[in-house]
Amino acid sequence: MPNQKHTLFVCTTCGGKWQDGKRVGESKGEQLLQQLQELAQNSELHNQFCIQGVECMSACSHSCVIAFTAEGKSTYLFGDLPVDGSTSAILEGANLYYAKADGLLPWSERPEALKKGILAKIPPLNKWANLNVSCC
Ligand code: FES
Repeated sequence: MPNQKHTLFVCTTCGGKWQDGKRVGESKGEQLLQQLQELAQNSELHNQFCIQGVECMSACSHSCVIAFTAEGKSTYLFGDLPVDGSTSAILEGANLYYAKADGLLPWSERPEALKKGILAKIPPLNKWANLNVSCC
């Protein structure tokens, strides 16, 4: 079993309504976060993942947006996730991500909602630590 920290980020500003420069009501991202936290409470995921709300992950035209991240694993960013009907797929994807030592989520193994909504796959920092790669 992996022992590194895993985090599921959920954008809470996605799908928000604005009036006179202020956000009003509950955003779709906040609704998604609440649904994920409730569903995760009754699963093993509760002890494996920190489900964390964050403000904007700069993929605003792809609301709702979530990300899986963990030390030593690629970070995945997914979008275009509807509030209704995405929760189970996101938690299924989180379980898959957690179970894999390298965190890789091949397209064929992902739940349907995470097959088409991928926005980014960012390699882990430590992957390049032992290579003689100059940057900047
Ligand atoms: S508002 Fe959700 S990614 Fe920007």
